Formats: sequence, C-alpha cells, structure tokens
Amino acid sequence: MLTQAPRGTKDVLPRESYRWQRVEAICREVAARAGYLEIRTPVFEHTELFLRGVGDTTDIVQKEMYTFEDKGGRSLTLKPEGTAGAVRALVEHSLYAGILPVKMYYLGAPIFRYEAPQSGRYREHHQFGCEVFGAAEPTCDAEIIALLIRVLEEVGLAGLTVNINSIGCSHCRPLYHKAMRVYLGDRLSLLCATCNQRFAHNPLRILDCKSENCQAQLGDAPEMLNFLCEGCQKHFDGLMEALTALGIPYQVNPRIVRGLDYYTRTVFEIEMQSDTGAPLAVCGGGRYDRLVEALGGPSMPGMGFGLGIERVLMLLNQREVILPEPRLYDAYVAALGPDSRMPALRLTHALRAAGIKAEMDHAARSLKAQFKSADKLGAGLVALVGGDELARGAVRIRDMRSKEEKEVPLAEAVAAIHAILQPV
Ligand code: HAM
Repeated sequence: MLTQAPRGTKDVLPRESYRWQRVEAICREVAARAGYLEIRTPVFEHTELFLRGVGDTTDIVQKEMYTFEDKGGRSLTLKPEGTAGAVRALVEHSLYAGILPVKMYYLGAPIFRYEAPQSGRYREHHQFGCEVFGAAEPTCDAEIIALLIRVLEEVGLAGLTVNINSIGCSHCRPLYHKAMRVYLGDRLSLLCATCNQRFAHNPLRILDCKSENCQAQLGDAPEMLNFLCEGCQKHFDGLMEALTALGIPYQVNPRIVRGLDYYTRTVFEIEMQSDTGAPLAVCGGGRYDRLVEALGGPSMPGMGFGLGIERVLMLLNQREVILPEPRLYDAYVAALGPDSRMPALRLTHALRAAGIKAEMDHAARSLKAQFKSADKLGAGLVALVGGDELARGAVRIRDMRSKEEKEVPLAEAVAAIHAILQPV
C-alpha cells in the first residue's frame, strides 16, 4: 500500500517529464498565438458549483465526484472538470466587464473523477482547456476546433476524426425531450435505474449512458438535430460552413451529447484510433451559452474544450512519435584531488549562472568514474580542474564528441566552454 500510488493515478517520473513539458509548451504556444491567457483556479471548489454547473443528472455528479467536508463543515469537491471553476472565476472577478471576448486557458490542471480505471482513463487526469466568453457566432466554435487540431498536429498526432453535433437550446430541447419520452415510454423497465431518473429530468442524457442494455434500446431513438429551432439550425449550418472554409473535415454524429449538462448548441469530440482498436476521445467541448448566467453572472455565451494530456501522451507512445529529449547536462566539471574541489564548485556555479547546464562530482570519485558519469549523462564536454593545470591557473577542456582537448585559463573557462558548446 505505502509504496503504491492510489488506484487510477499515475506518477510522472523525472526522466519522462520532458514529454509532458513538450506537449504543454505546444499547448501554451498555440493558445498564445490566438490570444488566450492562462487562468489557474483552485483544485477544489464548493460542491454546489458542480451540482449547478455540471448538472445533477450527469454521471460525473451522480457517481464520480471526490466530495468531502472540510473541518469547517463546508462541502468541497476536487475539480471533476475545468469549465465550472473558470466560469466561477470570471463571475467572481467580473472579467466579463473588460474587453470581449475573454479568452482563457488552463493547463496541467488535475481533474478528479471516480471512474473505473482502464487504458487512457484515470481517477486523476490532466487537461489543457480553452474557454471563450462573449463570442456567440459559429466562427468562434470553428476557430476553437481549428486550434485543437493545430495542437494535435504540432505534437505529432495525425489522423483524427472531428465529430460534431448540436444539442439545441432551451427553446427546442423540450420538444426533443417530449419525443424521447414517447419513444422510451414503453421501454422504461429495460433501462437502468439512473436512466429511469434521467427519463423524468433529462432524457437527452440517456444517449450518454455507459450501460449496454440502455444503449440497446436507443436504436431508432429520435435525434436532436431533427428538432433544432431556427436559431440553432442556423448556428449549426454556420459551424459546418466555417469548418469547410477552414478545410477541416468533420462528421456529424447525432450521438455526441457529452457528459456534462451545461452545453447548448454545438458539441464536439475529437477521436483518434488507439492500439486497443476502439477510437479514443482525446478532447471534447462545446458551447455553453447559459452557464455564466446560471452561475450568477450576466447573460453571456461561452465556448470551450478540454484536451486530455494523458491520452495525447498515450497516443504518442503507441505511434512511437519521438519527442525531442533535452540534454540533461552540457558540461561536466571533473575535480582531481581535495584542492580542486572548491575551484570545481565555483566553476560549476559560474557555468550555471551563464546558462550552461553543468554538473560536478560530489562523491569524491576517481577521475575515471567521473568521466564515465559525464559520458552517461551525455555531457558535451568535461572541464578538468586539478593537477598541473590548476597549479598553472588553468583548466583542461575535453570535447566528448571529437575527443579534442585544450587548456584554457581558469578565468576564461566559462567563455571558452560557451564557445565550444555553441560554435558560431
Ligand atoms: P470531457 O470530455 O469530460 O470534457 O473531458 C475532456 C477530455 O479529458 C476528454 O476528451 C479526455 O481526453 C480527457 N479525460 C476525461 N476523463 C478522463 C479520465 N478519466 N482519464 C483520462 N482522461 C480523461 C470536459 O471536461 C469539459 N470541461 C470540456 C469543456 C471545456 N467543454 C467546454 N469547455
């Protein structure tokens, strides 16, 4: 127990963290190009936020939240998704009162869901998410999808499928719910207990049920797309037109309803083929034009997505995409004998101050062992401090690739090492 991480969680080990950093750097870079600024919200929020934001008929709220009472008796919940916290912060700090649209992203935010762990599904995962507030036009929806595709392409993932759908609004969705109730009315005994509750409160959500029995009853179920009001239809047509204008292939998939209740109109998911055969959703998102108001802010449209970082990394692994691994050290300072330890320490420190990745020996090992370390660590050169060179106020530099050696005055060692590492 003590030496095992909790079920559904995963350590990112020091030698693999560069892969995360690489993906995260691309997310930041692509988001910055489109004017998104980073937001960081707390890992936990008041439970009420998710009940109202995510919706009490969702699996997330009903089955998956990590909810606890703090010592002051407040009910708090570890973030099961990123949008509700972003909207809460938008309202709390009146961010909507400035220049519109407000564009924000979050990255590396841990998300907690008590789900059955399996390949690509964890109880703690991390998302890169973007949220735009105050932009109602479908061109915004298309732009968000385009941004996601850019991220995936830049990390090295090709071959994706964009699934889009519209789940209407408060005008047209009630008509759909009515049709669903008529369709499912005499099959209620075949649906799970949760879907029986959903039948009464939110029949659309039944489409998202993970139970095979429930799915089997949905063969000819009505589709929301056939019930869209004029405004929602126009928006959906506009989205398709904008995606076509951007040259983004897409698939209209009426079964995409998403696992969160805040969506209106556009919903989408990007899937990729994984090793297990089944397509894997790497990201999902959509429009949530009522959420800001529902959480106490002004009436303001919103649109966004969440991209699962673990899933991106898993696919990169499966496809054997090589991410450039940064070199751990450029220079290794080898010390020879007790008198050379302080000069070696000073040189290592000066190299680091000059922006050079440097290491030295702190175990009083033999020169041979130090050279072996330098080699293993991939250092481009070794600066040997000690012996006759030190007596002459000099240091011997060995280029580990060409094996060439030269002696330089200790006072000029940093500049000389710099020049060797970055030849002009
Ligand atoms: P979501 O579809 O629930 O949406 O999650 C977004 C992405 O996070 C998924 O496509 C998947 O890649 C990843 N993900 C979800 N659950 C897990 C898990 N248990 N283990 C590993 N990865 C997972 C949202 O969370 C919305 N807040 C997205 C959004 C933002 N919509 C509008 N704005």
